This record gives sequence, C-alpha cells and structure tokens, in this order.
Amino acid sequence: MESTFLMIKPDGVQRGLIGEIVGRLERKGLQLTAAKFMVLDDKLAAKHYEEHEGKPFYPPLIAFITSGPVFAMVWIGDRAIELTRAMIGKTDALAAAPGTIRSDFAVHTNFNLIHGSDTPENAAREIALYFKPEELIDYDRSI
Ligand code: CMP
Repeated sequence: MESTFLMIKPDGVQRGLIGEIVGRLERKGLQLTAAKFMVLDDKLAAKHYEEHEGKPFYPPLIAFITSGPVFAMVWIGDRAIELTRAMIGKTDALAAAPGTIRSDFAVHTNFNLIHGSDTPENAAREIALYFKPEELIDYDRSI
C-alpha cells in the first residue's frame, strides 16, 4: 500500500468540485485516510512549492494557492501515487488525456484544480507538511 497527498485547489473548491473529485477517487477504490479544509498561509505555500521557487510561475502560483480554501487529503492504495496522477492528468489541461480530472474540468495550467504528489519522497514530505501522524486514520472499509 502506498500513501499520496492530494489537494483540491481554490478553483476546485470554488467551482464545487470537491464531491466530484472525491467521488472519483472513492469509486476507483482508493481509501481516504485524512482530510482538512483549510486556507494556506504564505509560509506553508512556500514550503509546499519550494522546488518551484524562482520559476516564472512561482509568484502567481503562491498568490493563487493562498487565495481561498483548499481541501487537503491523504489517500492510500496500491500504486496510489501513479494511479492518482493518471486520474488527475497532465499539468497542462490541453495535454491531459480525456477522462482525467484536468481534461474534464480544467482549462488553464495555473488553475488546474488539484495537486497530486509525484514521488514517494514528495508524498511523505507533503503529508508531513499538512498532517500530524495522529491525523492519519487507519480504518477497515469492508463494513
Ligand atoms: P501542481 O501539481 O500543483 O505543481 C506546481 C504547479 O504550478 C502546477 O500544478 C501548476 O498549477 C503550476 N504551474 C504553472 N505553470 C506551470 C508550468 N509551466 N509547469 C509546471 N507547473 C506550472
């Protein structure tokens, strides 16, 4: 089992897509382990996106990600990182494959609805940024 960090961005929240996105992940068979509805401050946004510091899209990215509430989540499942990235689709909505979240609902690279961890190392780093260990809930879904 693998854990991944997913975050519905302010555009996804404002457009009322939390249910649609969470529903897709649930129907796929992934398991929700933690969730938090929150507004990012500049400090957390900078930590999250530290690898992009200095890039031209960094200032608008920080402004956007702190502009309204996000829905931060941890999901687990077999190959959860690759699987959720495939469901999300490529960063550029135009390049995202049909049927992916970004292809179905996003238009612009800067407003691409959802973030998903890209490696196990980044998943562990991002999960630790947003959640305390005791906030990760292990439960049996079979009832
Ligand atoms: P995300 O998966 O959250 O990771 C970095 C974000 O920067 C990305 O989604 C986009 O929202 C944003 N971004 C804007 N322009 C680019 C770009 N040229 N390449 C990568 N990410 C970009």
